[in-house]
Amino acid sequence: MNRNEKVLIAGGSSGMGLALARSLLADGAAVVIAGRSAARLAQARAALADVGDARTIAADITREDDVVRLFEECGAVDHIVSTAADIGGAYELLPALDLAAARKVVDSKFIGPLLLAKHGKARLAPAGSIVFTSGIAAYRPAPRGSVVAGVNGALESLAYALAVELAPIRVNVVSPGWVDTPIWQQVAGDEARAKLEAMAQKLPVGRIGQAADIADGIRFLMRNGFVTGSVLHLDGGHRLV
Ligand SMILES: NC(=O)c1ccc[n+]([C@@H]2O[C@H](COP(=O)([O-])OP(=O)(O)OC[C@H]3O[C@@H](n4cnc5c(N)ncnc54)[C@H](OP(=O)(O)O)[C@@H]3O)[C@@H](O)[C@H]2O)c1
Repeated sequence: MNRNEKVLIAGGSSGMGLALARSLLADGAAVVIAGRSAARLAQARAALADVGDARTIAADITREDDVVRLFEECGAVDHIVSTAADIGGAYELLPALDLAAARKVVDSKFIGPLLLAKHGKARLAPAGSIVFTSGIAAYRPAPRGSVVAGVNGALESLAYALAVELAPIRVNVVSPGWVDTPIWQQVAGDEARAKLEAMAQKLPVGRIGQAADIADGIRFLMRNGFVTGSVLHLDGGHRLV
């Protein structure tokens, strides 16, 4: 990785985004992490201090004014990554589905990335890239997961279109399977550990993913100048079983 590179990670205060921040800082890259909670950002910055100094900017990517300010504060970047998601309340069967919770999924996983592309384009060099995060729900849908499944699929279609519209800027998507991150507390609460362990037994690789597995894939999408409009599946073989 070029030590002069600068990467903005929306969702960088937790899970996959935090793991990506760690690996990029270790490379010597300049890393800006964004999320809604200033406290969570401060915690993340402290957790990363052993590898480098991440810059933090509090911003809600579902709000256009926040995204405009985010780029004003951040300035030029080489890569924009979004791992942001607010999905906890939307895992429900249709009769119980709360539309406000459903809209949070749409806003955080579709509108937010759209706004990052809209306002980030002018900040990116022609050799730059954008990476979004979809997920296995689009490929192995399950009851209660309809909204997340639909939004993940829509996000991938958005990336295909933006890869054409924003060219030569490259636009790609990483699609994780089940990965051990704090999001599982939102999604499954006390049952999270048992669900993850049961899934590990089913997967061809015999384990669930770690945040660093996904960070590795995002780094590939950022670095490989010949990949655009692609979805990289990092799911331990989940689509096969
Ligand atoms: N973990 C899995 O098993 C799994 C599986 C498939 C797909 N995915 C997808 O992978 C991505 C990363 O998930 P993760 O497991 O790393 O999640 P995570 O640990 O919960 O991290 C999510 C991050 O997004 C930020 N965020 C949420 N809403 C935001 C908003 N409106 N504006 C700015 N930042 C926002 C959060 O910070 P604040 O709350 O402070 O804003 C946090 O830093 C998500 O798109 C998720 O849907 C995860």
